[in-house]
Amino acid sequence: MERIGEYLIKRLIGEGGMGKVYEAEERLSKRRVALKVLHPELASSEEGRAQFIGEMSILSRLDHPNLVRCLACSEHEGKLVMALEYLEGQTLRELLIKRGALPWEEAVGVTVQVARGLAAAHGQDPPVIHRDLKPENIMVLEGGGVKIMDFGIAKVLQAMSRHTTHSVGTLQYMSPEQIDATGLDARSDYYSLGLVLYELLAGAPPFHSESPRELLNMQCTEPPAPLPDAVRRGMPRGVETLLLALLEKSAEDRPATAEALLSALEPFAPADGVVSLSSASTSERAAPATASTQRRVDSVPGVDAAPRPSLSEPLNTVQLIERARADGTQVSLRAAITIILVMSALAGALTLLARQLLG
Ligand SMILES: Nc1ncnc2c1ncn2[C@@H]1O[C@H](COP(=O)(O)OP(=O)(O)O)[C@@H](O)[C@H]1O
Ligand SMILES: [Mg+2]
Repeated sequence: MERIGEYLIKRLIGEGGMGKVYEAEERLSKRRVALKVLHPELASSEEGRAQFIGEMSILSRLDHPNLVRCLACSEHEGKLVMALEYLEGQTLRELLIKRGALPWEEAVGVTVQVARGLAAAHGQDPPVIHRDLKPENIMVLEGGGVKIMDFGIAKVLQAMSRHTTHSVGTLQYMSPEQIDATGLDARSDYYSLGLVLYELLAGAPPFHSESPRELLNMQCTEPPAPLPDAVRRGMPRGVETLLLALLEKSAEDRPATAEALLSALEPFAPADGVVSLSSASTSERAAPATASTQRRVDSVPGVDAAPRPSLSEPLNTVQLIERARADGTQVSLRAAITIILVMSALAGALTLLARQLLG
């Protein structure tokens, strides 16, 4: 069994931009941990180390039931590692793939817990802004508890310039002000939370495009598509009003504080806050949606036949832009294959004709 410092590595459980996450055991205590190890290439770069150490120091200051806990940080033979409490459950992405849209009560239950975690982070002095809130970074535990993970690009507000020159985050879950790379505050996380709530209710995000440019444009200018009728039916109006407030393009129009957000949400939250991890489909609850929404709901993997990879695995900015480039080469490749096929068919026909004429 591989060993990193005091940790015995059991298996790889996740891999992202920053590094690998393993299930591991603390040698002496036998405590199960999730060990996040910074990519060796990043560990040798000043910026990569600074970012990882940033996540370590932010997480070790945070202590809240809706935020993943950091147990220890260390460095072993040049490997920077962070031992996190091991979370037994599924990410919201896995849950969405398995169950599709959730009943509104469960969607609100999850959202309230995420909002409480955000309130704790935003309530720090100076505030901590997550900046990468998305279904992959939210874990739903066996008992129904919800934890925000991955503070990899979180920033302590004071350390952020009001006019940052570059944008970070996952394109599909970025707020308009993140896209514009203007000053952002806690309300940017509320926008991302609005996107998560929308996706939990509808089974698909409000904006979708294969083209990164169009997606950015939609996030910044287009209103979200109305929720499917089947979802709206039976759901309190207040939930929809709050959802739309979270998705306001201008931060000024969103709830101003976590307290305001929580007091608007909590009246609708189920008392026990429990979310079911079972794979029971909720599709029976969702009667046929309108033509415009049907297309999106239909294309959720696990809900219907046509999986759309971009939904099961949202792409980060770089991947989206690379894919846009690759699309161009795919088109020319397809054209080349068609030409070759047509030419071989022609050659075949000519040979046949020649044989018949000569014979
Ligand atoms: N504490 C944990 N317990 C269990 N699984 C975890 C834990 N932290 C992360 N993971 C798994 O590893 C994946 C990547 O972790 P994350 O912190 O999001 O890192 P990255 O910065 O690489 O995206 C998560 O989506 C999740 O599946
Ligand atoms: Mg992540």
